[in-house]
Amino acid sequence: MATAAQPERLARPQIAPSILSADFARLGAQVAAVTAAGARLIHVDVMDGHFVPPITFGAVAVAAIADQVHAAGGGIDVHLMIERPERYVAEIAAAGADSITVHQEATPHLAYALAAVREAGCTAGAAINPATPAAALREVSEDAVDLVLCMSVNPGWGNQQLIPASYDKLRRLRAALPEQVALEVDGGVHVDTALLCAEAGANLLVAGAAVFGAADPGAAYAELASAAWPAAG
Ligand code: DX5
Ligand code: ZN
Repeated sequence: MATAAQPERLARPQIAPSILSADFARLGAQVAAVTAAGARLIHVDVMDGHFVPPITFGAVAVAAIADQVHAAGGGIDVHLMIERPERYVAEIAAAGADSITVHQEATPHLAYALAAVREAGCTAGAAINPATPAAALREVSEDAVDLVLCMSVNPGWGNQQLIPASYDKLRRLRAALPEQVALEVDGGVHVDTALLCAEAGANLLVAGAAVFGAADPGAAYAELASAAWPAAG
């Protein structure tokens, strides 16, 4: 169960491995491999078969890894690709989420959904699809959001190619957002795109296939982090 919202958890530049590409028969071991390598934010992609075509997993998957991730000093970053996400926020938070991101396109009341996330004790994120203009979030109160997630592929599947227009969109989002709001990029992040994402202003880089599609997810995580922030290593 999430204890209290910790926006500082989101401030650090870091790779957030997405378990969408993990081997679910060995989920605990896969998560352990990346936390041992330094990962502190585990990304969980919840899909409902409506907002996006596939159905993935929900609160049960969050609960399955929550204790392990928290024991490693990490947090769970849930990305809700579901319609009317506000209806599921309490359940996902109770399962152990630390941060919950909802899509601007998935609810008629983004402010209400973000407030529900905060009320549930989590940090609140707002996501936009590639076809949604950055300006769609311009009127969201900067006090209501801890994180903006810029989809750099159309959501629904892992292992897609990053849409190159995303770099400019990230730059515009970063310039428009207050410093305390984290900027996350999601989709197509790998060793050849990570640095460009970081240079465009993203501080949270979600990576699924590039981490869990590798033979050694821990090594792949470390390689990606060094590619994104060469000076840090
Ligand atoms: C896509 C998901 C992503 C996905 C990214 O709809 O939101 O989080 O796991 O996958 P990769 O890193 O493989 O592009
Ligand atoms: Zn995601």
